[in-house]
Order: sequence, then C-alpha cells, then structure tokens
Amino acid sequence: MRLAKFLAHAGVASRRGAEQLVSQRRVTVGGEVVTDPARDVDERSGVALDGEPLAPERPEVHALNKPPGVVSTAHDTHGRPTVTGLVPSRARLYPVGRLDAETTGLILLTNDGELANLLTHPRYGVEKVYRVRVTPAPVTESDLRTLREGVELEDGRTAPARARQVEPGLLEVVIAEGRKRQVRRMCEAIGHRVEALERIAFGPLRLESLGLGKHRRLSSAEVERLRKAAATGASPRGEGPPAMRPAPG
Ligand code: URA
Repeated sequence: MRLAKFLAHAGVASRRGAEQLVSQRRVTVGGEVVTDPARDVDERSGVALDGEPLAPERPEVHALNKPPGVVSTAHDTHGRPTVTGLVPSRARLYPVGRLDAETTGLILLTNDGELANLLTHPRYGVEKVYRVRVTPAPVTESDLRTLREGVELEDGRTAPARARQVEPGLLEVVIAEGRKRQVRRMCEAIGHRVEALERIAFGPLRLESLGLGKHRRLSSAEVERLRKAAATGASPRGEGPPAMRPAPG
C-alpha cells in the first residue's frame, strides 16, 4: 500500500497530513528517510515516524456530543480539555474536522485517516446540520433566502445552503462546506448574533439521544453509511447535496 495510506491507517494523521509528515522527512522505512508518499510499503517494511515504529491500527469511529469549552484537537497547548480526552480508547484517535470551542454537538473521532479525509474534504460534500440560536429574533424570510443563496464572506461566497426557522430565532442550517466558523460568520453577515450553536447531524449520522459529553462507538454499518455519504454527497435525509434541490420554505 502507498506510504501515505499506511500512515493514515496507522492513525498518525489524515492522508493529507501523512503526506506532510513525509515531506518533513519525519518518516523512515527500514531506517532510511523516505520522501515519496507513494512508496509501496506493508507491515514488514519497518515504517517509523520520528523513530517510533508504526503498525496499522484496527479502525475505530466514535461519536461524541461535544460540550462547550472543549477543543477539537488531540492536544491543546493551553491545557484546555480536548475531545480525545473525553473518548477513552487505546487507538490514536483524532477529531474528524473541527467544532469551535463554544460549539456543542456531534463530532466524530477516528484513527482512520482515509475516512477522515473522505468526510472532511470539500470535494465529497458531506452535509452537516446545525441548530443555531440567534438574536435578534425572528430572522426575516429575506435573510433566510440570503443564507440559502450564498453569503458573501471575506474568504468568498458560501455555497447554497438549506436554512429554515424552526421557531423564532432558532435556525436549522445545512451546509456541505467546512470553513472556519462558517455558520457563525454566515449568521453575522445577515446581521444576527449567534447565541448558541449545536451540530445535530454529520452526513447520515444524527446526534439523537447522545447526552452532552457522552460518546459511543459506531457500528460497522454506521461507518459504512458514512463512507457511502461521502461517495454520494448524501444528506442526513438521504437526499442530494443542498445545491441540487430547492430549499424548503
Ligand atoms: N460553523 C461554525 O461557525 N462553528 C462551528 O463550530 C461549526 C460550524
């Protein structure tokens, strides 16, 4: 298998992250620095990172309902609690994408770098569903339309989203992009302040009854559904990506 894939399966980084590790000359095969991420290797090749021998770990995927104040990294330089600290496992788990420290809700953790890449790469357009409490309330129909059509942000216009008002000041926003603080910035762009932000679904997977701070390991059927969602851009409702159908009223 390709070296970058091997590193991703060993749980040290996503596929793209693995390529960086290789270019930083931190990876050796049989004691020799390798700079080609496509190099063919297997368990007997003696792959090591920073001198530490690596072996592929059994893939695991966990869902966590992230509480506020917890950061979506494996280690925090400021000593804040991390999502990986809330999910005990012998595997080297890391978060699939990010939620802001104050955002709550569904975040996935895995040691499967390939899956993480599939689920986060914009090319695969996996939808994420957010519940957003905003002020002032309510949000006008015209502002909702702006969210649906795309909002001009400093890093460019957002792709069409689905947005509906569940009750005055409570929005459900569905996006397939994953830009930094995207939902917060979209709401600010239409003149609303985000009071609370929760992710309630990631592709076909919903938060449902998982309590705040609780986690559970996904079944292989659930992991397969996630993988399929990346292949088809399927939404939590099994529909196409948001740009391909009219937004609900
Ligand atoms: N959008 C945001 O603004 N923040 C998040 O944490 C996730 C999506």
